[in-house]
Amino acid sequence: MQRISKMQAIAIVSVLLCATCHIAIAFKDGMFNNGNFELSPKSSDLKGTEVINPHGIPEWEISGFVEYIKAGQKQGDMLLVVPEGAAAVRLGNEASIKQRMAVTKGMRYSLTFTAARTCAQEETLNVSVAPDFGVLPIQTLYSSNGWDSYAWAFQALFDVIEVLLHNPGKEEDPACGPLIDSIAIKVLNPPKATNLNLIKNGGYEEGPYILPNTSWGTLVPPNIEDDHSPIPGWMVESLKAVKYIDLDHFSVPEGQRAVELVAGKESAIAQVVRTITGKTYELSFAVGDASNSCEGSMIVEAFAGRDTIKVPYESKGKGGYKRAVLRFVAISARTRIMFLSTFYHMRSDDFASLCGPVVDDVKLLSVRNPRRLV
Ligand SMILES: *[C@@H]1O[C@H](CO)[C@@H](O)[C@H](O)[C@H]1NC(C)=O
Ligand SMILES: *[C@@H]1O[C@H](CO)[C@@H](O)[C@H](O)[C@H]1NC(C)=O
Repeated sequence: MQRISKMQAIAIVSVLLCATCHIAIAFKDGMFNNGNFELSPKSSDLKGTEVINPHGIPEWEISGFVEYIKAGQKQGDMLLVVPEGAAAVRLGNEASIKQRMAVTKGMRYSLTFTAARTCAQEETLNVSVAPDFGVLPIQTLYSSNGWDSYAWAFQALFDVIEVLLHNPGKEEDPACGPLIDSIAIKVLNPPKATNLNLIKNGGYEEGPYILPNTSWGTLVPPNIEDDHSPIPGWMVESLKAVKYIDLDHFSVPEGQRAVELVAGKESAIAQVVRTITGKTYELSFAVGDASNSCEGSMIVEAFAGRDTIKVPYESKGKGGYKRAVLRFVAISARTRIMFLSTFYHMRSDDFASLCGPVVDDVKLLSVRNPRRLV
């Protein structure tokens, strides 16, 4: 018998021991295969910018009018800027791209992708993993550079899934669809309430993938059709998105991640918790700024059932935070905890990107012997 090296032996044994190893290997959090479209189609698969072979883009399958856009390319007078790296794709009317992948059945996942509106006024993107889908509005510009990263979550009902991004648009100009780049996936671990905190995922540590090469965070759109939140435990119950940010690119009050309320009263994040009627509780949380030149007098409004507190915070746009506490008596078996920003804010460095106060480190505890407040 041929001698095998120690490394080979370890490799063989681990493959034999673990039938699902390929899944674990395939599903490390991160970019899809060729998720940033840096591997380009062969020139024979292109007619101008149009990809004419359904399998022309490595690792992807396309349908309809899909363009392969390189950085610096022009459309009329407009310079097309690519969010990341040297290339992206554009989905024309009814065009789609898809990729199959192995996942762990039953687990929840969050997708993150970067998209930019081009010439259409109201663009949406239908992101689906059968039988779930979510139609995400991408017409609102949150950042001045024209693109944003978005998160959408789902629960895998099969071992192999197909992730499909489809532009349901019907523009007169078929070349007016959204630009798509940097598609990534992340496992969402289920959060739990503990003895030390009745709020699940109170520090927002569990959440969607944040692309390491982006500096604009990940938008978590309102739950329109999907019931799986990319920020486990929390719901975005407003008209507009909230922004999920990380310590690598922003200031966050606690841990690695936090939420920025970027659209005033239209941008709220909520969680419903079990409470005991008549009991006194203390909701504590941190309010700060993300160190992203978002300056001014901010107010975060926190709600616990019918009780509310307004927490003022003076932001110099350079990071920092304060803590606040809302003490309340529960009036039902379920209490809705919610945060929103009273005002709209714009970054002082570009006057076009929406921004706002940061909320983090949310804790809820019952108070055993509430002192009587005279
Ligand atoms: C979104 O895509 C899914 C899967 O292809 C489809 O079932 C659903 O009808 C689409 N929804 C809209 C609004 O286009
Ligand atoms: C981030 O950018 C660097 C330098 O441009 C590149 O080498 C790296 O592959 C990028 N990482 C991702 C995850 O895109």
